[in-house]
Order: sequence, then C-alpha cells, then structure tokens
Amino acid sequence: MRPLILLLLTGLFHGAAFSQQTIPVIPAPNEMTVAAGNFTFTPQTHIVCSKALENAIHPLVTKFKTAAGYDLINGPGKNHPADVLVQLDSSIGNTEGYSLEVGVTRISLKARSAAGAFYGVQTLLQLLPAAIEKKELSNNVLWTLPCVSIHDQPRFGYRGVMLDVARHYMPLDFIRKLIDLLAMQKMNRLHLHLTDSQGWRFESKKYPNLIKVGAFRKGTPLNTTYDFASRPADTVYGGYYTQLQLRELVRYAQKRYITIVPELEMPSHSQAALASYPDLACLDSNGKKFAYPQDIQNEFCTKDATFTFLENILVEIMDVFPSRYIHVAGDEASKQNWKKCIYCQRRMKQEGLQNVEELQSYFIKRIERFVNSRGRQIIGWDEILQGGLAPNAAVMSWTGIEGGIKAAHLHHQVIMTPGAFCYLDHYQSDAPGEPVAIGGYLPLSTVYGYDPVPASLPEGEKSYIQGTQGNLWTEYIPGPAKAEYMIFPRAVALAEVAWTQPAKKKFEDFIARLDQYCKRLDAYQVNYSRHLFEIKLLTARDQQGRILASVEGVAPGREVRYTLDGTTPTANADILRGSLAIDNDKTLSVAVLTEGKVTDQIAKTFRLHKAVGRKIQLATQPDAQYSRGGSHALVDGILGNNEHFEDDQWLGWEGKTFEGTIDFESPASTSSLQTRFFHKPTSWLWAPKSVTVQVSDDNLNFRTVAKTEISAPAPEGPMTFSISWTPVMARYLKVIVEPVGIIPAGAIGAGDLGWLFVDEVVIE
Ligand code: ACM
Repeated sequence: MRPLILLLLTGLFHGAAFSQQTIPVIPAPNEMTVAAGNFTFTPQTHIVCSKALENAIHPLVTKFKTAAGYDLINGPGKNHPADVLVQLDSSIGNTEGYSLEVGVTRISLKARSAAGAFYGVQTLLQLLPAAIEKKELSNNVLWTLPCVSIHDQPRFGYRGVMLDVARHYMPLDFIRKLIDLLAMQKMNRLHLHLTDSQGWRFESKKYPNLIKVGAFRKGTPLNTTYDFASRPADTVYGGYYTQLQLRELVRYAQKRYITIVPELEMPSHSQAALASYPDLACLDSNGKKFAYPQDIQNEFCTKDATFTFLENILVEIMDVFPSRYIHVAGDEASKQNWKKCIYCQRRMKQEGLQNVEELQSYFIKRIERFVNSRGRQIIGWDEILQGGLAPNAAVMSWTGIEGGIKAAHLHHQVIMTPGAFCYLDHYQSDAPGEPVAIGGYLPLSTVYGYDPVPASLPEGEKSYIQGTQGNLWTEYIPGPAKAEYMIFPRAVALAEVAWTQPAKKKFEDFIARLDQYCKRLDAYQVNYSRHLFEIKLLTARDQQGRILASVEGVAPGREVRYTLDGTTPTANADILRGSLAIDNDKTLSVAVLTEGKVTDQIAKTFRLHKAVGRKIQLATQPDAQYSRGGSHALVDGILGNNEHFEDDQWLGWEGKTFEGTIDFESPASTSSLQTRFFHKPTSWLWAPKSVTVQVSDDNLNFRTVAKTEISAPAPEGPMTFSISWTPVMARYLKVIVEPVGIIPAGAIGAGDLGWLFVDEVVIE
C-alpha cells in the first residue's frame, strides 16, 4: 500500500536532487517512487549478503574497487549493521524480479533468485554516477544515489540479442564485452549464429574438416558489396572457437545470468559444411553433385548420413552449451536441389511426403526427436512452420509477425524478432555517410515503439510470446567497431521493450535517460551510434516558389542548429526555429545538440526546380517498403542519398512501370527532365529501359515531347538521367519510366523482376 502517501511525499520533495523523470535507469523499472534524500557509499559502507548471492553483488563490489578505489566491507561490523543488505525473498513473485529500497542510511535489495538480485544490483549501479562504470579510479566523485523504492520485474522471460559470428568471425574479447553490456541492460540471452555458408565457427572434435576447411574462405567480403564469391587472388579469411573457449564463454555469460543459445544452420545456409564434407550434398539423377555458384541457400541432402553428421554435431554442441533451446535455424531453404536429388526423391517416396515443404518438416521433426531425447528443445526460424511444425518446437519469428501468431495459435512458444523492428543490420538513419548496411531502415524510435505481443492475438494466447531479440547479421559487419555501432543504442531500446510494461514507456523519457546511459557506454568505450532521432525534413512551396523547410522527429526541448554551407553545425550555429526559406540549391545540415555536443545530425541537399511542392499523381504506388517519403518525395526539392537507396527520398517499384503526372495548376513552360535511377544489379535494382515525357492541358489527352531508350550503365550506384525538349506550355507533365522487366540470365536474381528506384523528378 505504498502509492498514495509516497506519491504525495514525492510530489513535495522530488525536486530536491532527482526527479522521477531523471532517474536514469534503463530499462525503466516497472514501479518506482522517488523520495527525499540520498544514500552515499563510503569506505565504511558494510554490505551483507548470503553466499548464494555473492555472484549477484560481484559487479557492485568490483566496480567500487576499480572506480572508487575501495572495498565495500563484506559483512556487518561490531555494532554496525548492514548498510546494504541483499537477501533472497520468496515472496517476490517473478523469478527475475527484485525490490530495492534506498533510504538515507540503508539499502535493502530483495529478490527471489540470484538473477533478480543481479538485476537489482544493475539498477543500483545505474543510480550511482556513471563514473562507477569506468575502468580506472575516479577521484572526487561523491558515490551518491537518490532514495527510491523500486518493485521491478521483467515483462518477458526471454530478452536477447543475436550475433552472427559466421559471416564475420568476432573476437572473444568483443563477445565478452557484449555480454557485459547486455547484462547491464538486464538482457538474458545471447544467441550465437555459429554456422552459415560463409563460415563454420564451432570446433568439432569428430569432424575436423569443419574447422580446417569450413572455418576459412577465400575472399573476404569487400565491405561495400556482400560478396561471398571466392576469387583466386583473395587472401584466406576466417576463424573458429575451440570448445574450451566456448565453455569459458558460457561460464562468463552464466555469471552474468545470460544463457548462450547456440544456432546450427540446417538444412540450408550450409555451404561451409558441404565444402568440408562434400558427401552430405545432394546428387542429381546422373549421380553428379549440383554446382553451387553464388548460392547461399545450399541444403544438406536428406540422406541418413546427414542426420548422423548433424546428430553428432548436436551432441558436441549440447555438451558445450547448457541452453534449453538449441537453435536449428530452418530458414531460407530454397529446396530446389531436393526436387531433383535422387536421395531426397527416394526419401519423399519412402516417407509419403507430398512436397519439399513436407520434406523440410520431416527434416526438422527428425532433428527435434533427437534433441528432445537429450532433454533439450529446438527453436527455429519461421520457416519451420512449413509443411507442419515439429511437436515441441519454439518459433523465432523474423519474416514478419505472422509466423509468431501462427505458432502461438498452435500453442507453441514464440520469440518475436521481426525484421521491421528487430533487425539491427538495417540502416538507423538517413544521414549521409552512414556505414553500409544490408538494407532496410530501422531508427531507434521504431525499435522502442515495438510491442512483441501482436495486437490480434487472443488474450489466452498472449503468454506464448516469451520475449524478443535483436538480430545482428554480419554480412556487412567486418568487426567489433561496426557491430557496436549497429547494436547500440538500438539494443538498449529493445531491452526496455523486453523489460518494461508498455504503459510505463515513453520515448522522450527514454531518450532523456539514454543521454545518461551513453556516459556508461562511453566508460566501456562502446562505438555506439549517435542517431537518437528520426530527423525528417519537411518541405513545402511558398508563394515565391521557394522551399520552406522544417524539421520533425526531434524530442521537444532539444537544441536544433543548422548550417547551409555543408559544414556540421556547432554550438555557435544558428538555431532552427519553425521553417527556413531555401531559395537556391544548397545543403541543409541540421544537428541536435546535447550539453553543447552534436548528438545527432542529418544533411540534405536541395535542388530547386519548377515541380517543387506541386502535386504528383502516381499511376502505380511504390512498394510499401520503399515509400517512406510518399509521392511528395519526388517533388520535395530534396535529393536522395548517393550511397544507398534506403532513405526517405528514393521510391522503389518491383517490376512496375513508373507513371507520374505533375500538376502545375496553370500552364507552365518546361523544357527538361532530370532524375536519377538507382542501378545496383547486386541488389536486384536496375536502370530502366526507357523514359517518355508527355504533356497535357486537360490531364486526359497527352502528347509525347521526349522519349529515349536507356542501355544499362556499367557502374553500380545512382545514375543521373537527363532529357530535354523544345520548350512547351502545358499544365500537366507526365513521366513514364519502363522498368527492366525480368533480370537477365547470368545476373544476381536472374528470372526475378528487377526493381526500379527513382529519386527527385527535377523539371525545368
Ligand atoms: C534470417 O534472417 N534468415 C533468419
């Protein structure tokens, strides 16, 4: 019965040193009240806990030793009770829950389990000055924290991050650092993607070729293009973890109450294994192996030898990793080879399987029986639903949320990791100069706004959603620095999604706490991204034909400054208030400053022209994924990103003709079109076949004023296209762009429809 009285007191006193708002704990505690006064740690502070909780308080003790330079006194003294008392308390309902009472003279931390006590300790550490996280002594710091009363427990039991160590080997030091950071934000799973076509990272004692052959590839990805093709001149790249190293890593994680979930890819993404043991591949009807050119989706054959191999590997994996969940992937199997393979066809006949989806289901169910027989449970990506879900499998839903919903309907456990909210390999900002990402767009605010429980799920099925996880695939991530940039702070936002009840979450409040949290990330020397906001430039046309630009997406109260000369705004730059008139071509750089330092920024290049701010009618809407800026993006006077096509300026169509009609509202003289197409065949993007320009006075009868065919240009990237015509007066102007159609043979994605990406439609 705390709330009423304490809230009143809080209302009176919380202005003293700390307010509810500025209690900088992430994830936000689910119940917290702030009272007057502070508790201060000194070299005389006595901490008391039972033996069972020594590991849980370890971070507090060691961090005091390092940062404050003294040992907290272990145990009560003569005539000196505990100042900090940490106890197990079975009346706390949730296994990972805790209660923390900080008074002026005493701290009491209670938890149902050591894990809960550890989370209470994390909260305590975050209430202390950020210097507590530093790896060296900080003098002249008052080790003070506000008096609070916290009753806290996680919303979900599974709170994770996945790290792909297959596409790029990640050093163990980095994985340990990641574990420390995940523990700080009360996450409890690290999912390691240990095998894929580009590398096998798990030492098998039984199958030594896996680390002799499968752990190394010729040809490192070039870091600008995902390139898994090996070329003779490339150096050998790779690495693996020994079982001993992994056992130590498991122990390291356990001490921080983190379970490492190992993933073994099957039946697809298995080229590294097939290169090591070629007999596990399919054979065609002539008894020949299939050629595997640049195909990552190579399946193991479904012959018995494959199961023997995988079961033996699983035995080794389960011996190293005590995790209840063993991840068996199941994703993205094209299964084309299975349709032709003599063994797989025989298997389908023997087992009465109607199609290759049922064969995949057979595969996963057979593996499940083996894993279950060893007392563990399989988890797999969405695709394990195809052809029938294995009886005890948990589903990790990634392609959207439908897989998760379907699995919950079937009363299976679900971890939600949909790409649109949880894929940390996507871009996080439209700012130019962002490091290359695989694609997609996932700003911090979108991660934060995610609710892992689908709204459509009936009440009785909600409990099947066990939690959520951020996934870092590393095709474009060669090492720790970039991995940190992609993981942080988005995984910090996801930690709050996983821990804090939705009603207690607010993005602006999170951002205020994140400013403080970043100081802790600084202490760990984390290369986190500063893109906290989804800064959008809005434009309109004024009476004089100028662009009026304004900014959206920055939390209120933030200082926003700008320059128009291409330089990064500093604390002396002009403040941006309301809107800004742009009357010639220039670059607007906008920065958000926190404590005088740029914490986020964006820059956009303007191009004034006759169609700016006009209405443009599209005959076919762009694909939902590539239409963030809406049709206005084509006539907003802002040029799209030069490096990639994922920003809000480029619009994309899959194989459809672009037809846009601009209305000048009264007859206007025009004589040229300039636009850009993103030509990137390695990502299925192709320059178009032809461009036609037509004009009309009534929006019904159009006459062609210019037309040209385009032959695909050689370099990948934005291609500038210009066409002009004899000046003409007309109210309407239509641009028709005919896409490439089917991607030609020999190119990536051959046989599929090519994408058409269009930037600003500049009319003069
Ligand atoms: C996945 O992203 N292929 C699970």
